[in-house]
Amino acid sequence: FQAKRLAGKRVLVTAGPTFEPIDPVRGITNLSSGKMGYAIAQAAWEAGAHVTLVSGPTALDQPYGVQRQAVQTAQQMHDAVMAQVASHDIFIAVAAVADWRVANASDQKIKKTTDSDTPQLQFAQNPDILASVAALPQAPYCVGFAAESENLLEYGAAKRLKKNIPLLVGNIGHNTFGKDENELVLFDANGHQALAKADKQTLARQLVDEIAARV
Ligand code: C5P
Repeated sequence: FQAKRLAGKRVLVTAGPTFEPIDPVRGITNLSSGKMGYAIAQAAWEAGAHVTLVSGPTALDQPYGVQRQAVQTAQQMHDAVMAQVASHDIFIAVAAVADWRVANASDQKIKKTTDSDTPQLQFAQNPDILASVAALPQAPYCVGFAAESENLLEYGAAKRLKKNIPLLVGNIGHNTFGKDENELVLFDANGHQALAKADKQTLARQLVDEIAARV
């Protein structure tokens, strides 16, 4: 018997990378596979929640029982989240959102001209989806992720405070992007706590239990 610890709750999850176009056939993305976010969406559904998943481009199948909305850019992910967040109790931001988009993206394919002539890309900052949600007057319970390459314990605690969220989850493993296993550390107002190395499904279930215990 597994208790449905999130029965009656509505959970919104972002997952995967974003894709920021340069022109109609080129773009900038990152190595996020979406596996952790999809595993969390699935685990939240298993725990009895109604789950909405806003996903950047991934190769993953739609998790069973979960409502998925596919987006490409950070702006689209932001807009999809902001349009739906009001009806949700919990927001879990797992997506690896591009910090910048190409400000001078071209409507037409950029042509190669001379050997020395290279396109000059300019960048604009993308909205911080998690910070936007956390700043809402009726904010849901917000969970963020952090992928730091050093000083995770110090940066994790600081990032939780900066983002103004009750729970921040740090990836301990270097380069967990695309891997089936991960190792997590949870930061909340009481300090931090590790979830030992395991496959992402197992960690997702443990994390959902930790979230259910806090909301
Ligand atoms: O500040 P940093 O990008 O390290 O924060 C990571 C956390 O913030 C993740 O939970 C990520 O999903 C979220 N985030 C976001 N929108 C952004 C950047 C990050 O929701 N533009």
